[in-house]
Amino acid sequence: MRVLFFDSGMGGLTVMAAVKARCPQLEYAYLFDNAAFPYGDKSEDFLIDRVDLLLKEGYSRLKPDLIVVACNTASTVVLPVLRHDLPVPIVGVVPAIKPAAKLSRRGIIGLLATPGTVKRAYTDHLIAQFAADVKVLRLGTTELVEEAERKLQGQTVNMKRLTAVLKPWTDLQEDLKPDMAVLGCTHFPLLKDEIGQILGQKCTLIDSGDAIARRVESLLDINHQSAVDGSVVKNQEKSSPCCVFCTKEDGSLPARELMLKSWGISKIEVLSIRAKLKNQA
Ligand code: DGL
Repeated sequence: MRVLFFDSGMGGLTVMAAVKARCPQLEYAYLFDNAAFPYGDKSEDFLIDRVDLLLKEGYSRLKPDLIVVACNTASTVVLPVLRHDLPVPIVGVVPAIKPAAKLSRRGIIGLLATPGTVKRAYTDHLIAQFAADVKVLRLGTTELVEEAERKLQGQTVNMKRLTAVLKPWTDLQEDLKPDMAVLGCTHFPLLKDEIGQILGQKCTLIDSGDAIARRVESLLDINHQSAVDGSVVKNQEKSSPCCVFCTKEDGSLPARELMLKSWGISKIEVLSIRAKLKNQA
């Protein structure tokens, strides 16, 4: 069974790694939209048209059994259209607000996400439904997304820039600081150590990777499959390489390929889109 992961950039790899750890027997494919990166400041209409078209193309080329939209920003708006247009289960990524609200002892949680995600109605509903009795501090940033991309191209993370972004929380009086920080962008687990250093040990960082892995496992009925044919053991031995596609040839691909070796990935191909992308970035 093949699963296709989608994101604007490298962030979705953090979700793919969580799914892979739980379901090593699957085949993995990854598509990222570097031509329109970053998604955090794009309009809803732009994201809906673009992601729908890209994933229709990705589906027809790769024939996955399931698609993970490993991008919170896109997931806040595109899921209904994708579920209407594609014949396979679509799993979206939701910021881990529910577990964070449950685990917070202080009753103050922070949501660190892209500017798009923090302001969307989808996020308002999530907070109203699962975090009505805690205080939620929202912090929208594209700078951390860019830093995460730089890190995965082998560049040094700019700690000064990270510190400045997180200042609204670090400047707060001790008892008003969040004790749980939701990494509501799939790029942010790539900076977990750096963000943790700045926010300090009293703040626990939480992301959605493992929840997505459990969802994929249950939708594909993997435990049942494995029990029937022993496929986990068989396939773990010959785990297939992940094919990676992007939407634009750019100078960063060799550096990315080098960094992705440690993720078990060796080659990035450009996916040629047959239909015309509206609102091309
Ligand atoms: N990784 C993405 C997310 O989870 C998108 C980041 C961006 O392109 O702004 O929101």
